[in-house]
Amino acid sequence: MTHPDKFLLAGVMGWPVMHSRSPMMHNYWFEQQGLAGTYVPLAIEPGKLAPALRALHPLGFAGCNLTIPHKQDAMEIVDEVDEVAARIGAISCVVARPDGSLFGTNNDWLGFIGNLKQQQPDWRADAGPAAVIGGGGGARAVCYGLMQEGVPEIRLVNRTPERAQAIAAEFGGPIRVVAWADRHDALDGVATLVNTTSQGMVGMPDLDLRLDRLPGAALVSDIIYTPLETPLLAAARQRGNPTVNGLGMLLHQGIPAWKLWFGVEPAVTDELREMMERSIAGG
Ligand SMILES: NC(=O)c1ccc[n+]([C@@H]2O[C@H](COP(=O)([O-])OP(=O)(O)OC[C@H]3O[C@@H](n4cnc5c(N)ncnc54)[C@H](OP(=O)(O)O)[C@@H]3O)[C@@H](O)[C@H]2O)c1
Repeated sequence: MTHPDKFLLAGVMGWPVMHSRSPMMHNYWFEQQGLAGTYVPLAIEPGKLAPALRALHPLGFAGCNLTIPHKQDAMEIVDEVDEVAARIGAISCVVARPDGSLFGTNNDWLGFIGNLKQQQPDWRADAGPAAVIGGGGGARAVCYGLMQEGVPEIRLVNRTPERAQAIAAEFGGPIRVVAWADRHDALDGVATLVNTTSQGMVGMPDLDLRLDRLPGAALVSDIIYTPLETPLLAAARQRGNPTVNGLGMLLHQGIPAWKLWFGVEPAVTDELREMMERSIAGG
């Protein structure tokens, strides 16, 4: 049954979730689009994800995003998982369909690629090999995106080699696993370097990576956005490499979510980016 009111609803389920910047971004878009609606943080305890997701449709929600710790657990709950989420092994976006069924996908890779293209319009995945540091969910989304864009080679380096090997085995294609000890040399000749580990985040140690082999023209990206400029990005900028921070990945994954939920494609404007940057810089 169609909801009788035109008030649009979506949210993010996480635990904790109140720190999430997603409501600020989505509520900016409601206003910008002139649509009546809201996007709310939903603090859902681990173990309560299934009833929470099943409540989306009766409550009139178009869907929700998922964040820690729910991204993997949702795979067992939704009625349909698309190929992207199956490949990445995690759901970032749930759609509550008109018939009440739940569809899960993952838009993180679209966010990563969309952001790179907006921030560095001349960047091309096929310009040369990429080095991806990390082997978690973020690494899977980044590898998927780079492969969709036609990267000729991915040198995948993770502290725990088994996780990188699993990605290489599942994804196939141009992924070559490089030992953690060889990560510095793995930067030789790359066109793109991406950190997907948690190293460099506020409260975490810096990523231990020497950039002396990295070509001066290589694009350096970090998917972390707290801080906006990680020590890796600062070091890359100081030696003249173009850099892209992780905020835009969060912003750009919202576009396909809106398309799925509301049939609208909002834009990542300078105003939105600056508003989010101010919020993050303010702590
Ligand atoms: N911008 C965005 O929209 C976006 C989206 C997704 C994630 N992220 C960010 O990306 C980061 C990773 O997220 P995730 O979901 O991929 O997390 P995850 O699945 O928990 O993976 C964490 C990664 O960090 C590595 N790591 C942790 N401690 C380390 C250490 N001491 N030395 C070396 N490597 C270490 C892990 O290596 P091991 O496998 O060896 O443990 C693993 O590769 C987080 O900061 C998250 O906020 C941002």
